[in-house]
Amino acid sequence: MRQEGHCHLVSYCHYLCGPFRKQLGKKVHIESYGCQMNLSDSEIVASILAREGYERAERPEEADLVLLNTCSIRDKAEQTVLNRLDGLTHLKRKNPEMKVGVLGCMAERMRADLLEKKQLVDLVVGPDAYRSLPGLLDEIGTGQKAVNVLLSRDETYADIAPVRLQTNGVTAFISIMRGCDNMCAFCVVPFTRGRERSREPITIVREARDLVRNAYREVTLLGQNVDSFHWSGADGRTTDFADLLAMVAEVDPLLRIRFSTSHPKDMTDKVLEVMAHHPNICSYIHLPVQSGSSAVLQRMNRGYDRDRYLDRIAAIRHFMPDAAISTDIITGFCGETEEDHQDTLSLMREVRYDMAYMFKYSERPRTLAARNYADDVPDDVKGRRLQEVIDLQMRHAADRNQLHVGKEQETLVEGVSKRSADHLFGRNTQNAVVILPKCNAGHADLRPGDLITARIRSATSGSLQGELVRIDHPAPIPKDTIHA
Ligand code: SAH
Ligand code: SF4
Ligand code: F3S
Repeated sequence: MRQEGHCHLVSYCHYLCGPFRKQLGKKVHIESYGCQMNLSDSEIVASILAREGYERAERPEEADLVLLNTCSIRDKAEQTVLNRLDGLTHLKRKNPEMKVGVLGCMAERMRADLLEKKQLVDLVVGPDAYRSLPGLLDEIGTGQKAVNVLLSRDETYADIAPVRLQTNGVTAFISIMRGCDNMCAFCVVPFTRGRERSREPITIVREARDLVRNAYREVTLLGQNVDSFHWSGADGRTTDFADLLAMVAEVDPLLRIRFSTSHPKDMTDKVLEVMAHHPNICSYIHLPVQSGSSAVLQRMNRGYDRDRYLDRIAAIRHFMPDAAISTDIITGFCGETEEDHQDTLSLMREVRYDMAYMFKYSERPRTLAARNYADDVPDDVKGRRLQEVIDLQMRHAADRNQLHVGKEQETLVEGVSKRSADHLFGRNTQNAVVILPKCNAGHADLRPGDLITARIRSATSGSLQGELVRIDHPAPIPKDTIHA
């Protein structure tokens, strides 16, 4: 019998390769809902399944296994997934061998209830249990249903090299921590993602180096509250988020660094100093405020009041006068009065955000708010307040974007514009989208990965129109293909 580590014949593989044998030739289709963290987790799942011999299927019709990586943040997010599961029913009827799994936050929140609610679901796996997927797949292969929603205090998947999904080959996410210990009153994340834990810094730096070798130009470091990143090494040395940022920034001066999400109660001047000191750390901070009213912030258990928040904004402007700032806002949280709402609008006028994600409050089971407060703002009032917040933000975004006009800005080209194949889009360091013509007289055609100087000709609330001044660093060529 042959003893090589690699199999030369499929039939050998079938019998020799242990865990590989069952899944040979099988295909998995993964859909990600929710935040960037979920997309990053799907890349871990893809890596675990690739080791099991699974190939990727672009469409569920081609797959033996369909996985939905789900979000519970608002009721609407869960409804989207439940509807998607209904949409898969006809596929399962056509192909009863096809298995369907629910991963992520909804799996954690609903657990085995999901199996009852949606008969077609075979597998439910929470965010800390992805290493058990091979065993669970064996179980469902024998016609059983399988559930693992154990949360962990130390799982960070630090040793698993993600398989980059939906990639443009230019920008990538790196998870630097998992879970959240904050217990904001409205938020389900601490229940679905468990306790906060940080990943060993050297594994983060290695992942960034790998990405550089593979021609990536930008990484976004991800955590629910990156400012509470903390690692204590065996030698007693500690690494905080500012230290980590500096370490990643020093991997390569041409690798741009972004991160999300900063927390107003924990964001230090040290982080801002590191940002100001490293030109390759982008001048952009996402600093969710949630509400401009100190009374509401207190009920939300956010750990800061309006003054502390504005103090952090002043610090950002001090260290990085050109930085763009974005935020998250919730309208209609429990007990929010008209005056509280006016406080949110006035805070927006004071800060003038470049961008904002804005939501109506949606009560989530088990949260502090669900247990302690009545969801007492009527839906139409929540909706009207949300519209006022959106209208104001549109005006601010248009004004802020206008400030770029006439300037020459470093822009990283990311891909083809959705609106026109003759145009590419990129982002400046402030994270604003810049639309650029693909062909430019006297220059090579622009390509994703080009780091260029663009002159901004005009602006709307959503994007900037630019023209090429020069290509500073053409798109690099990947040095290896491990993430291909
Ligand atoms: N960790 C990040 C937020 C993650 S959730 C932070 O602390 O800022 C992303 C955003 O969803 C939140 O900032 C909040 O604005 C919104 N959100 C969370 N729970 C919500 C709920 N129950 N209803 C409406 N919006 C919610
Ligand atoms: Fe949720 Fe608050 Fe944690 Fe953000 S910091 S994930 S809003 S509990
Ligand atoms: Fe949603 Fe879970 Fe992210 S609830 S927002 S997918 S952490």
